[in-house]
Amino acid sequence: MSEISSKEMVKFYAGNALPLELHKVRVVQKLHLQPIEQRYRALQEAGYNSFLLTTQDTYLDMLTDSGCNAMSDRQTAAMMLADDAYAGSQSYLRLEQRVQDIFGTKLVLPVHQGRAAENIISQAFVRKGDHIPMNYHFTTTKAHIEINGGTLHEIFTDEALKIKSSHPFKGNIDINKLKNIIETYGVEKIPFIRLEASTNLIGGQPFSMKNMREVRSIADEHGLMIVLDASLIGENAYFIKQREDEYKNAEISTILREMADLSDLIYFSARKLSSSRGGIICTNDEGIYDKMRDMVPLFEGFLTYGGMSVREIEAMAVGLEETLDDQMICQSPSFIEYFVEKIDELGIPVVTPGGGLGAHVDAKGFLSHLPQEQYPAGALVAAFYLASGIRGMERGTISSVRDETGNDILADIELMRLAFPRRVFTLSQIEYTIDRLRWLYDNRHLVGGLEWDAEPRLLRFFLGKLKPIGDWPQKLMEKFRNDFGDSL
Ligand SMILES: Cc1ncc(COP(=O)(O)O)c(C=O)c1O
Repeated sequence: MSEISSKEMVKFYAGNALPLELHKVRVVQKLHLQPIEQRYRALQEAGYNSFLLTTQDTYLDMLTDSGCNAMSDRQTAAMMLADDAYAGSQSYLRLEQRVQDIFGTKLVLPVHQGRAAENIISQAFVRKGDHIPMNYHFTTTKAHIEINGGTLHEIFTDEALKIKSSHPFKGNIDINKLKNIIETYGVEKIPFIRLEASTNLIGGQPFSMKNMREVRSIADEHGLMIVLDASLIGENAYFIKQREDEYKNAEISTILREMADLSDLIYFSARKLSSSRGGIICTNDEGIYDKMRDMVPLFEGFLTYGGMSVREIEAMAVGLEETLDDQMICQSPSFIEYFVEKIDELGIPVVTPGGGLGAHVDAKGFLSHLPQEQYPAGALVAAFYLASGIRGMERGTISSVRDETGNDILADIELMRLAFPRRVFTLSQIEYTIDRLRWLYDNRHLVGGLEWDAEPRLLRFFLGKLKPIGDWPQKLMEKFRNDFGDSL
């Protein structure tokens, strides 16, 4: 085990340690492991874009954890008690109270999902010519800030983009870079500093409380606002407890509250935090609240539902409370850690240490024979789906954009993200994932690149269609049949 292994691994008499499932399964869903020939047809129809595959053709859906985490018995029971009302629903009041209790923020706005919060925050605070420093962007965050005329500055530390690292907090902001940005553009051009908990696109990597306190002190010095994207705050808090000495005996609730107290405005996608649907914006500052409030009825729905169904609202209230439970919040990180350590031992390039929402395989290292212009992360996702029926997500140049001259802006890192939705997969399914990835790594020389067939202008990774360069998918299929015979 690595030096920063989680304490949630349970030691076995045989000497090994495993991430034990700390729940039992009482509702199940049938999965579809199709033969490789069907997977090939499905991939062609989907234009080699895993977003366009259906679950009918997918064995393990590791596209994302968003909206795919398992709900608890208490969440589904709460959904039955929902109070349907356009205005003043008691379900909403229960959720509002829970948000106030956890984050200590008295002002709460509901939205239908995380990007809706980003839309409102960006419209309220970002003006043409503004500059927004942050640890790293998220796709929808970037799009909303840019649509409103802002420019993003990713001021991560040197450690952040290293694939192999044992740094416990790769999501930290580089304080000197933050000072430089403030000096270069001036406070009047910086509406806020954005911190993303368990930074999604660099491998679900957390920031430390120490770093957050330093950012706060710079923000205070210059009168700047801190916006916290708390979509993956539970995992970030869990890593603070695991990896930051001062917090090793702290309750998750104490850590969450301290992070909230260091922020001026918090928003989150409840598809991630709380394992339900919807989203929340919250703050203690009435001036900040007033700038956003009237946009909620305009874009989302009345202030007591914000585009969510009351059932989702009830599930969110319970899910938020369950986030405070170490036994729940440890489940994704400990499974990810197990997976990452195993494939790292096999020599397969993967982002280390394991992060908060999934394992991130380094596509540039895996397919080192492919130029970045041929989208190695997209090619790896497509090849891995063929090899396993497992769908991951491309987080590389396809998820990036083109510059004004029409050239691809090559991504800093090319990753295949395999999401580990909370409490969804068993350890034997994870073993299958490791096995098929190992087979693909041994046959990586067969995998070729991708090129565009139909490329949308905005957020192209969602709906774009690509095609293989050459006939590599057929060759990979032939090799699979040679090695696995009739097996699925
Ligand atoms: C860090 C982060 N912020 C914002 C969002 C957007 O949330 P949603 O998908 O609910 O719109 C996501 C979604 O994955 C996310 O990971």
